[in-house]
Amino acid sequence: MFFWPNMQKLLLPSIFLGTLLIISSFQTFATCSNDGFTFNGFAGANLSLDGLASITSDGLLQLTNTTKVMKGHAFHPAPLPFKSRAGRPRSFSTTFAFAIVSAYPDFSGHGIAFLLSPTTDFSAALAGQYLGLFNSNNNGNSSNHVFAVELDTIQSSEFQDIDDNHVGVDVNSLRSVYSHTAGYYDDGGSFRSLTLHSGQPMQVWIDFGGEDMRLNVTLSPLRTPKPSRPLLSSTVDLSAVLLDSMYVGFSSSTGSIRTSHYVLGWSFKMDGVAEPLDYSKLPPLPPRSDITKSKRKWKGLVIWSLASFCVVLMVVTAVVLLLLRRNRYAELVEEWEHEYGPHHFSYRDLYRATRGFKDEELVGLGGFGRVYRGVLPTSNMEVAVKRVSHESRQGMKEFVAEIVSIGQLRHRNVVQLFGYCRRKGELLLVYDFMPNGSLDKLLHDPTQPALDWARRFQVIKGVASGLLYLHEDWERVVVHRDIKASNVLLDGEMNGKLGDFGLARLYDHGTDPHTTHVVGTMGYLAPEAARTGKATTKTDVFAFGAFLLEVACGRRPVEPAAEGDLVLVDWVLEHWKRGSVLATRDPRLGEEYPAEEVELVLTLGLLCSHPLPEARPSMRQVMQYLDGSAALPELSPTYMSPSILPLKRTEWLDDYILSFPSSVATVSTCSVSEGR
Ligand SMILES: *[C@@H]1O[C@H](CO)[C@@H](O)[C@H](O)[C@H]1NC(C)=O
Ligand SMILES: *[C@@H]1O[C@H](CO)[C@@H](O)[C@H](O)[C@H]1NC(C)=O
Ligand SMILES: *[C@@H]1O[C@H](CO)[C@@H](O)[C@H](O)[C@H]1NC(C)=O
Ligand SMILES: *[C@@H]1O[C@H](CO)[C@@H](O)[C@H](O)[C@H]1NC(C)=O
Repeated sequence: MFFWPNMQKLLLPSIFLGTLLIISSFQTFATCSNDGFTFNGFAGANLSLDGLASITSDGLLQLTNTTKVMKGHAFHPAPLPFKSRAGRPRSFSTTFAFAIVSAYPDFSGHGIAFLLSPTTDFSAALAGQYLGLFNSNNNGNSSNHVFAVELDTIQSSEFQDIDDNHVGVDVNSLRSVYSHTAGYYDDGGSFRSLTLHSGQPMQVWIDFGGEDMRLNVTLSPLRTPKPSRPLLSSTVDLSAVLLDSMYVGFSSSTGSIRTSHYVLGWSFKMDGVAEPLDYSKLPPLPPRSDITKSKRKWKGLVIWSLASFCVVLMVVTAVVLLLLRRNRYAELVEEWEHEYGPHHFSYRDLYRATRGFKDEELVGLGGFGRVYRGVLPTSNMEVAVKRVSHESRQGMKEFVAEIVSIGQLRHRNVVQLFGYCRRKGELLLVYDFMPNGSLDKLLHDPTQPALDWARRFQVIKGVASGLLYLHEDWERVVVHRDIKASNVLLDGEMNGKLGDFGLARLYDHGTDPHTTHVVGTMGYLAPEAARTGKATTKTDVFAFGAFLLEVACGRRPVEPAAEGDLVLVDWVLEHWKRGSVLATRDPRLGEEYPAEEVELVLTLGLLCSHPLPEARPSMRQVMQYLDGSAALPELSPTYMSPSILPLKRTEWLDDYILSFPSSVATVSTCSVSEGR
C-alpha cells in the first residue's frame, strides 16, 4: 500500500491478492531469514535504532544528522548465531553502501563502524573519536566482545590512527589491528584512493572465513563491481571475540563538525556470500544540507570575489600597461598643429623606426641633440631623427610653423626636413637620411681617407648653391644661422647638403627675451652677429667664408694653440698678405691640386669673412666666382688696413664674451660639442 499506491486501486477487489502483493513488494526491499537479510533501502525496515539514528522518509538509514558530538546506532533487531555447533566462529559476509556528508568540503567527523556486538546498548559509549563504540574505560577491554570495521575520517593519535581517511579492523578497541588508507585496487592492481567524507556513496564488503579466520575488507565507489583484490586481507582470530549470539549493525558519531552518516543499503549473510545490493532500489542521498548550501554559497561567493578580483587586477594591469605604452609613445599635439598634419610624425612610428632609439642607430651627436638613423615603418623610407631637448613651450607655435615652412624647401643641396614630432621637453625632427654623414667628420677625422680636392670643390659649390637658394631663390629669405662643416651633410654621391636649419631660432624663441642670446659657433660667428645677436644673410656669408677656409685648409676656424687660440682667418690672411696663401692649404691634398681653384677658394673665404658685412659678397656673387662666370675682385687694401680693422678677431671674441656674459654658456656649449 505504502509503496504501490496506484496498484492498490487495481487490487482492491481482492484483499487476499492485495495482501500477498504487499508482502511480496515489501520483500523486494528487505528479505529476511535466519541466515541473512538484504535492505535495498530501509523504508519500513525493522531495525533497532538509538541516538541520532533514524530512517528518513526516502528510506535512508541516517545514523547521525548534523548535530555535533552525538552518536547513533542501528542494529538488525534480532541477534544472529555466530558460532558453529563446534563452537567455532562462523563465516559471514556483508556488504553495505554508505555516504559521509559533511557540512564542509575539507573536514568531517567522525565516521561509521560496522560492528558485531553481544548487546545493542551503547549508552555508555562516547561519541567523537570513540565512534559510539566504547568509552575511555572499556576501550581495549576484551570483555567487550566487539568486532568492528571502522570508516574513520579523523586521525586520532590516541588510537594511533594512520591518517584521517582510513579503513580499520577493530577488535574490542579503537586501536585498529589492521588499517589501510581508504581506497581500492583496480584491475591493474594499482591503488586508487577514495575520500570517505566526499559525500559520494561508496560500498564496503566485509568477508570473514570461519575456517581460516581470514578477514577481507573491500571498498569501492558505489555502482562499480567489487574489486577483486581486497583493501585489507588479514587473519583475525575472532574465536574469542564472537559469542554465540551477536547483534550486527552500525555505529556512528559526530564530533565538532556537523556530519551526516548514511547507510543506503545493506545485505548480510551467514556462511555464504552476501546478496549483492540492487543499486536501482537504493534511495538517493538528500540534497546537501542548508548549511552545506550556505557554505557552498559562501564558497561560491569567495570564488566569485576572487575571480572578480583577478579580473579587476587584469584590467588594472592592462590599463597600467596601456598607460605605460601611451606614456612611452606620449607626444604633444595641439589644435593648431592639425593644419600641419602631413608634417606631423607620431612618436610611435619614430620609436619603431629607430628601434626604440637604440644606441646602434645613433649616427651623430650634435650641439642640439642626438641623431638616429631609422626606417619608417609604413614607407620603408630611411630617415634621420634628431632629438632636440626643448623645455620651453614659449614660441613653439612659431617655431613649428618655421619648421613646416622649412619642410617646403626643395633643393638638391638642402637636406629635406620631412616633419616633426613634439614630446614633453623634446622636439623630434625627421630628415632625409644622409648616408655619408657630415663633412666635418671627413675633414677632421684622421682615420677617414683624405678627401680629394675635386670632392671638396664639389661640396663647396653645392653648399653655395643651397645657400643661394635659401637667401635669394626661395619665396622668402631664409637665414640658415649655423653654416659650418658639421652641418654640411653628404648624400650617397658625396653631394654637400645643408642641414639643421633654424634650430638656432628655437633657442632664440625659447629663452628669456631680456637677454640677448646668440647662438652660433665660434669662428663662424660674424662680429656684428656677436654684438647684436641678429642673424642676416651677411652673417651666413661670413660663416660660409669660415667654412671655405676650413675645407681648403683642413683646419677648424678656431683651434687651440699653445700661444693662444689660432684663428684660421687671421692665419690665412697673414699668409695672403705675404703672398704665400697656398701654404695654408690642407697638407692632405698632397702636391697634385689645381692651384688656381684652391687659391680662389682661400681668397673667397677671406672675402666672405670680411669683418665688415657690407664688404662681403652676396651668395649669388659667390656662386659666380666659384663657377668662374665672374672674376674674383681684388681684395681691397682696406681689408688689411688697421684703421678699418680695429680689432683682431681674437679681440672681438673676447669683446663678445665681455658684452654678452649671459650667453657664454651657450656659446661655449656650441663650441665644445661642435668643435670635435
Ligand atoms: C538530529 O536528530 C535529533 C534526534 O532525532 C533531533 O532532535 C535533531 O533536531 C536533529 N537535528 C537536525 C539538525 O536535524
Ligand atoms: C522487529 O523485529 C523484532 C525482532 O525480530 C520483533 O520482536 C519485533 O516485533 C519487530 N517489530 C516490528 C515492528 O515488526
Ligand atoms: C574489563 O571490563 C570488565 C567488565 O566491565 C571489568 O570487570 C574489567 O576490570 C575490565 N578490565 C580492565 C583491564 O579494565
Ligand atoms: C579474501 O581474499 C583473498 C584474496 O583475494 C581470497 O583468496 C580469499 O578467498 C578471500 N577470503 C574471503 C573470506 O573472502
